[in-house]
Amino acid sequence: MTKSITAWQKAKQEGRKLAMITAYDHAMARLAEQAGLDALLIGDSLGMMMAGEKDTLPVSLEQMEYHTRIVARAVSRPLVMADLPFGAFEESPQQAFAASARLLKAGADIVKLEGGAVMAETVAFLSARAIPVCAHIGLTPQHVRQFGGFKRQGKTQEAADKLFDDALALQAAGARMLLMEAIPADLATRITQALDIPTIGIGAGNGTTAQVLVLHDVLGLNPDKAPSFAKPYLNGAELLTQALTAYATETRAGTFPA
Ligand code: KIV
Repeated sequence: MTKSITAWQKAKQEGRKLAMITAYDHAMARLAEQAGLDALLIGDSLGMMMAGEKDTLPVSLEQMEYHTRIVARAVSRPLVMADLPFGAFEESPQQAFAASARLLKAGADIVKLEGGAVMAETVAFLSARAIPVCAHIGLTPQHVRQFGGFKRQGKTQEAADKLFDDALALQAAGARMLLMEAIPADLATRITQALDIPTIGIGAGNGTTAQVLVLHDVLGLNPDKAPSFAKPYLNGAELLTQALTAYATETRAGTFPA
């Protein structure tokens, strides 16, 4: 049962790999559970995937709460992780606690927040107050304006050392998991080996405890927008367009309803 964080800790200790995917709605969450996914992430990527935003910055806590509730209601076995959206947690540990409590009340098992050692105080505050936290480092999409785009991180020795130190600081502060996005594979492996807590990678090689991908990328729904590290397991855009075209064609031809 991978719903519990201790099961994730055990997987890390035993060297077992876990699979995670983003989910934003009830129907897809049910399918992901049926497929045996270990965790569902209600990522703030929903702003881009569901609402057509150009980045995740406009996503509100209310939106995160709504999508967390409808996903959590759909599943019982996978761990449910929800993102703290931009602007809802950075001001103070107290602000982060209030936002996290709303996501836990909506059904999340754990919250994810973006940021390195600068967030350690907040992680410690939340962890001491019944809020399990996954910290997210590397390409943190909420910092896209600061990064000047969705750019890979940790490429220089200095940047890699900083990420390594961030990871240690976040674990020491009480983070229960660490997600690393778009960083070199050897760095993500080195961090995973140095930490006791499970790690999750996206575009960070295969040395992490778990992998996460965005649902729309796995299903090939936005092939022109998918990052290069994502792997489509279905040509979803083509298949869904074919089905919708068939429905429209039959309706217009009067062959549906039969
Ligand atoms: O919002 C999201 O979907 C994420 C993943 C890209 C890790 O944070």
